[in-house]
Amino acid sequence: MSNSYKRIDAHLSSLGYCSRSEAAAFLKKYHVTAAGKKLTDVKLKVTHDEVLIDGKGLDPEVMTILMHKPASFICSHDDAGKLIYSLLPERWQRRNPKLSTIGRLDIDTTGAILLTDDGGLNHKLTSPKSQAPKIYEATLAEPLKGNEAEIFASGELMLNGEKKALLPAKLEVLSPTKARLEICEGKYHQVKRMFGATGNKVIALHRVSFNGFCVDDLKAGEYKQI
Ligand code: URA
Repeated sequence: MSNSYKRIDAHLSSLGYCSRSEAAAFLKKYHVTAAGKKLTDVKLKVTHDEVLIDGKGLDPEVMTILMHKPASFICSHDDAGKLIYSLLPERWQRRNPKLSTIGRLDIDTTGAILLTDDGGLNHKLTSPKSQAPKIYEATLAEPLKGNEAEIFASGELMLNGEKKALLPAKLEVLSPTKARLEICEGKYHQVKRMFGATGNKVIALHRVSFNGFCVDDLKAGEYKQI
């Protein structure tokens, strides 16, 4: 909470400005004030909103970001390879609690992904109860057959290895090999498996929006706080 008191060294460290052991040096290097008074003692307790660094407010205590994920980046904290987090400023990468993606996109999928350090929000939007809408554009290896919209809307499509049928999903045909698909659940490789179940193959996948957040105004690799 922004009105709760915390030690300045602990707070700067949790927001990624410096480590606790670097806080004394940080307070010497920058003009850090709380309610207008310069801070020199790392033990002083402050509220988030009253702190300024060189006249500028702190990064938000709770951060949620919309990113346009580029292909070849991984939504994981600890896999080998290019991690999505490496696209963020280093200070944000050092935050504790960490920023984590809300759900995941495959390495080759591009588009809308949210990242947050709000555990409650993450849980809420990834819980099977959430039914947050996700809109994808899929490019397919083969022309659509024409019965896909009906199959996906039926609420009866069973994917291999699943115990329950998928919830109804909306398909809009954009061209013989391109379609827009809106789903409200997030099973593993769901879109690829859905088209797989119709005998087709997704060769490119882009998520246009997640829970209403679109990446139309962001280039691949760009992000914004929301
Ligand atoms: N469905 C998939 O198959 N892959 C994704 O990355 C997202 C949804």
